[in-house]
Amino acid sequence: MRIAVGSDHAGYELKELLAAHLADAGHEVEDLGTDSAEISVDYPDFGAAVGAVVAAGRAELGVCTCGTGMGIAMAANKIPGIRAAVVHDVTTARLAREHNDANVVCMGGRTTGTQTALDAIDAFLATSFEAGRHLRRIDELARLDSEERAPIRP
Ligand code: RB5
Repeated sequence: MRIAVGSDHAGYELKELLAAHLADAGHEVEDLGTDSAEISVDYPDFGAAVGAVVAAGRAELGVCTCGTGMGIAMAANKIPGIRAAVVHDVTTARLAREHNDANVVCMGGRTTGTQTALDAIDAFLATSFEAGRHLRRIDELARLDSEERAPIRP
């Protein structure tokens, strides 16, 4: 699988660990930076870059890390077509695939231990989208990317 990875400085070490793990497993990894834990950078730049590469089809999956995984997920989710999920463990990783068909998986370098993160990414990759009742909801998410707006309930 072609996988794009990106992080800010706070997620740098976890990004490096996950990128090496994914490459060892035979995936083609495109590293969009950042390149250091020492230089402070802004997570929106890297989340948006990963999202853009996935949305364009240059990668099938994105892996993003920052301090918590949250900011970089917010950035990735600004890109139409992206469903970025913050996961914390095997269960949230599995459900992000089964129910949400996440195409970007985000984790926190300051909040998730390294073994848990490795187990979570393996669980994510080993799981398929369940479709069924979840497909309608994914389609609804896609409509939010378009000009159609979600109805406001009275
Ligand atoms: C950087 O200090 C930190 O705020 C950032 O990595 C992230 O946790 C934001 O969501």
